[in-house]
Amino acid sequence: MTSISSILHSGYHHPTSRQWQSGNVLRKVSLMYPIFITDDPNAADEIKSLPGQKRWGINKLQGFLKPLVEKGLSSVILFGVPLKVERDSTGTLADDPNGPVIQGVKLIRKEFPDLFVACDVCLCEYTDHGHCASIARIAEVAVAYAKAGAHCVAPSDMMDGRIKAIKERLIEAGISHRVCLMSYSAKFATTCFYGPFRDAAQSAPTFGDRKCYQLPPNASGLARRAIRRDLTEGADIIMVKPGMPYLDVVKDAKLQSPDVPIAVYQVSGEYAMIWRAAEAGVFELKTAVMESMEGFLRAGATLILSYYTPLLLEWLEN
Ligand code: PBG
Ligand code: ZN
Repeated sequence: MTSISSILHSGYHHPTSRQWQSGNVLRKVSLMYPIFITDDPNAADEIKSLPGQKRWGINKLQGFLKPLVEKGLSSVILFGVPLKVERDSTGTLADDPNGPVIQGVKLIRKEFPDLFVACDVCLCEYTDHGHCASIARIAEVAVAYAKAGAHCVAPSDMMDGRIKAIKERLIEAGISHRVCLMSYSAKFATTCFYGPFRDAAQSAPTFGDRKCYQLPPNASGLARRAIRRDLTEGADIIMVKPGMPYLDVVKDAKLQSPDVPIAVYQVSGEYAMIWRAAEAGVFELKTAVMESMEGFLRAGATLILSYYTPLLLEWLEN
């Protein structure tokens, strides 16, 4: 006879009881959609390495977002991609009042008052050298995005001390109570998994690499220290990035900081990898994407940044 304690199947025999095995459930509000906005107002450019995603011009934004908002899109994160204007050493274009991000924030706030708008804050998309420094400039840009109406600023540069610098500038500006600070705390250095993004944003460094500021992929200790540091400096949400190869780091973050929302970024390379595999017939897209989401939730993520958001919103309908 089977021993009583060996029977596990009984707990998940039915499709409904299988759903009860999850601690954390995927809801539409769990998803944040990364969007590229460029400086050609009429752009709707395909991005070869990110199939299905485009660089949008400001005039195309409303038409693109409307059906998604109707399907339940609740948050976006904006990335600016200047392609027409020359980049310089300080990233002047990042907080240009007529630049794509500030214009994009204003438009989204006006047209979609319920949509939560986050802005990635970094300089690599705007500097001629393609590096992400410095914290004074990062803080200045963050405050400009917040003043334009961003609900959230998310520095992805990985400079030491940036969270404190941004927080102080937000306090000075009298807007710290309304601006959520999401820190890319555990952001690992990877050229492969960020590759399609760097193509989309034309933001690959023109010399060197980012290994001295993004974390070494083997560094779970540094990730924990960076998370602890960023929370002390005033971060409201912490992020782990990339996602799938770093689920242990997500779990660590959750155990270490159970009281803070943990975000995970399913980055461009992960998106492309799943897409291309499905295209090649390795597996079915929806099943694979859903399983990747289950992994993030199981590890402890509250918020998932994913280029699959539009498809997920559709899949979550049924
Ligand atoms: C900018 C930034 C990057 C990503 C988000 N913000 C690229 C990088 O650091 O090289 C990657 C996102 C993705 O790959 O989807 N610092
Ligand atoms: Zn950067």
